[in-house]
Amino acid sequence: MNDLAGKHIVLGLSGGIACYKAAELCRALVKQGATVQVVMTEAAAQFITPVTMQALSNRPVYDSQWDRREPNNMPHINLSRGADAILVAPCSADFMAKLLHGRADDLLSLMCLARPIDKVPLLLAPAMNREMWAHPATQRNMVQLAADGAHILGVGTGFQACGETGDGRMLEPPELLEDMIAFFQPKLLSGRKVLVTAGPTFEAIDPVRGMTNLSSGKMGFAIARAAREAGAEVTLVAGPVSLPTPRGVMRIDVQSARDMLQATEPQARSADIFIATAAVADWRPAAASEQKIKKDGSGRAPRLEFTENPDILATVAQSPRAKSGALFCVGFAAESHNLVANAQAKRLRKGVPLLVGNIGPATFGADDNALLLVDEEGTQEMPRARKLQLARALVAQIANRLHPHR
Ligand code: CTP
Repeated sequence: MNDLAGKHIVLGLSGGIACYKAAELCRALVKQGATVQVVMTEAAAQFITPVTMQALSNRPVYDSQWDRREPNNMPHINLSRGADAILVAPCSADFMAKLLHGRADDLLSLMCLARPIDKVPLLLAPAMNREMWAHPATQRNMVQLAADGAHILGVGTGFQACGETGDGRMLEPPELLEDMIAFFQPKLLSGRKVLVTAGPTFEAIDPVRGMTNLSSGKMGFAIARAAREAGAEVTLVAGPVSLPTPRGVMRIDVQSARDMLQATEPQARSADIFIATAAVADWRPAAASEQKIKKDGSGRAPRLEFTENPDILATVAQSPRAKSGALFCVGFAAESHNLVANAQAKRLRKGVPLLVGNIGPATFGADDNALLLVDEEGTQEMPRARKLQLARALVAQIANRLHPHR
C-alpha cells in the first residue's frame, strides 16, 4: 500500500504526552510511501527524543530556529517550501494559542507562519487534558484557526494519561493516517450524500441458526471510505461483518434483508447516490422458529419453506427521486459466470443507470477484485486491483455521471 507515495509531509511535534504516539504515526506515514521531515519544539523533546524521530523518519530532525545546518540559515523557509502538508501531531493547547496569534518564537511556529498559506496546508491533531480541550479559550482558538485555513482533525475520547476520562486525546496513529490519506484525495463528491449497503444478510431459521453467504463486506466498506475521502457525507448500512467503520462514516448495523430495507429506505429519501453492494439473501425461511429446532429422532431433516426477500435496490430504484435522476443508483452483480451478459441483463432488470459486475467466488473475502462497469453506453473493465483503489476509481466514475450541483 502506497497511498502517500510522492508526498512530502512535515510532521511537527509540540509538547505533550501524546508525543509517544507520534513515533508510530511517523512510521505509518513512511510505510505508506511518504517522506517525513520531523520538526519538534523544545517541549516535545522533553517527551520523545529527536534520536527516535530521526531513526523512524530516516532524516535529521530540526528543533531550533538557530540550526546552522541550512546553508542560508533559514530552516523555517526551506522546510516549509517543499512540503505537501504540515501536520502538527500532537498539537498542544499552547501551540494552538501560539498559531492563533501568529507568534513565531520557535522553529515550528515560525515555520507554520512562514508557510505559503495557499500551497502548503496545515493540519492539526490536538492533544490535551479534557478540561484544557473544553476550555472556552481552546474552543475559541480552534474555531479561529479553522477560519484562518487550518484543518483541525478532531480529538479522540476516553482514558487520558492524567487519569481523567473525556475528550481531548490525540487521535490514534491509524486514524490520523486515514485522515491524511483522505486529505489528499480529490473532493469529487463534496456536498453529496452517499448511501451504501454492504456485507451479507443473515436470515434466521431459529434462535441459534440462520442462512447467510460468503460476502465479506470489504468492497462496500472500501466504497464507503472512498466516498468519504471524496468529501461526501456517507451512511453505510452493514450486514453482519466484523470490519472497522471507515473514518467519518455513519454506520447502521442490520441483520436481515428486511432490516436492511427498513434502514435503507428512509436514508435513500435524502441521498444523492445509492450504491448497493450488499449480498442480500434472495430468500428467508418463511417462518423462523421461536425455539431451537430439535432433532426428533426419526433421522429426517426438518422441511424448511422459503419466502422471497424484498429487493432493496429495485425498491429504491423505483422511487420517484431515483426515477427523476435526483438519486443516482448503482447496483452490483456478483456472478459466477457469463459476467457481461448477466450484468447487462441485471442492469435493465433493476432499472439502474450503472451496474458493477464482479465474479463473486473470485472476490469474496479477498482484498482485491476486478470490476466490469455496465451502463447504457456499453461496458468498461476495471482490471484487478486493491478494493480501495477500485472503489476510488468507481467513485470518480460515479462523480462524472452526476448532474452538476443544483
Ligand atoms: N439486491 C438488493 N436486494 C435483494 C437482492 C439484491 O438490494 N434482495 C441488490 C444487490 O445489493 C446488488 C444487486 O441487487 O446491488 C444485484 O444483486 P444479486 O444478488 O447479484 O442479484 P439478484 O437480483 O439477487 O439476482 P440473481 O441472484 O438471480 O443473480
